[in-house]
Amino acid sequence: MTFQIPAIDPSRLPQLLQAMPKAELHMHIEGSLEPEMIFALARRNGVELAYGSVEELRQAYAFTDLQSFLDIYYAGASVLLQEQDFYDMARAYLDRAVADNVVRAEIFFDPQTHTARGVAMETVINGLHRACVDAGREQGISAALILCFLRHLSEESAMRTLEEALPLRDKFIGVGLDSSEVGHPPEKFARVFARASELSLHLVAHAGEEGPPAYIWSALDVLGVERIDHGVQAVHDGRLMQRLAKDRVALTVCPLSNEKLCVFPALADHNIRQLLDAGLAVTVNSDDPAYFGGYVNTNFTRLFEQVPGLSARHAWLLALNSIDASFAPDADKRRWREQLHECFEQAARAL
Ligand code: ADE
Ligand code: ZN
Repeated sequence: MTFQIPAIDPSRLPQLLQAMPKAELHMHIEGSLEPEMIFALARRNGVELAYGSVEELRQAYAFTDLQSFLDIYYAGASVLLQEQDFYDMARAYLDRAVADNVVRAEIFFDPQTHTARGVAMETVINGLHRACVDAGREQGISAALILCFLRHLSEESAMRTLEEALPLRDKFIGVGLDSSEVGHPPEKFARVFARASELSLHLVAHAGEEGPPAYIWSALDVLGVERIDHGVQAVHDGRLMQRLAKDRVALTVCPLSNEKLCVFPALADHNIRQLLDAGLAVTVNSDDPAYFGGYVNTNFTRLFEQVPGLSARHAWLLALNSIDASFAPDADKRRWREQLHECFEQAARAL
């Protein structure tokens, strides 16, 4: 990369974080369901909720760890029944993403959460995919879907899910692995990832959110993933840090998620600067924005307010890494890199 980052007045950093083009690579679409939309869909579909009001539901968003969040997150997703529900949810997220200058969104979805309730696979994928196409046409955002397997379920269930989705193979670009991490190591899903690889699907997996560095090693070496979702526990293994840096394996880090799920005592304690300064291809993402207090730009803004020593150079690296690590066509990536450089040049001229 020959581009020199121009000198930027630190007072311009908040505006730059907002304006810079970025890719969001780690966002669970079911985690974008705002409480108001949960109640509206429950009413539309005649689904009974365990909470009496939006306020009561919001008050339940006090998490102590990943599992305490997942229990509420799966309950929230129970209001999704019709193709239009999936469409409306995804359009609402994509509108928010456009407002945050997200040029590319690679969106996770959890089909097993829906098929287990009797919702057809086509209902889920067609609704989400139509939203991606329409948002692309109307708002210019590039969006694609990544099908995630729930790791607390069996590999057989994951394999059945993949086979069931194959008639819609052209509507998703990859597979991922999410849900309860500890006790469900990546190698449990070796065969289903091998099958996905044969199908030329992109491969990603959550690893090292709460789980140990060993899970990151096995996501890389057993599953063959191209990116690690979270990965913040890598700092406990020096050899792993060197491997991630050498191979430019992107980590899709989610600062507000890590704060809300108590992965770090406070946002100020986040290790993102250590990861970046060790040469890892770190990106910033929102994970489940409706549950964790903000969309991607709020993640950037709060992070730069709280973590000491983050500069314009770090902002540029985070945005560039997100574009480089995306699975978008090279021609798009080249255009977004140029837009990113122009954005920084403009901020420098405003000195
Ligand atoms: N599903 C939704 N959000 C998740 C997270 N942060 N970790 C694992 N699975 C998830
Ligand atoms: Zn996640």
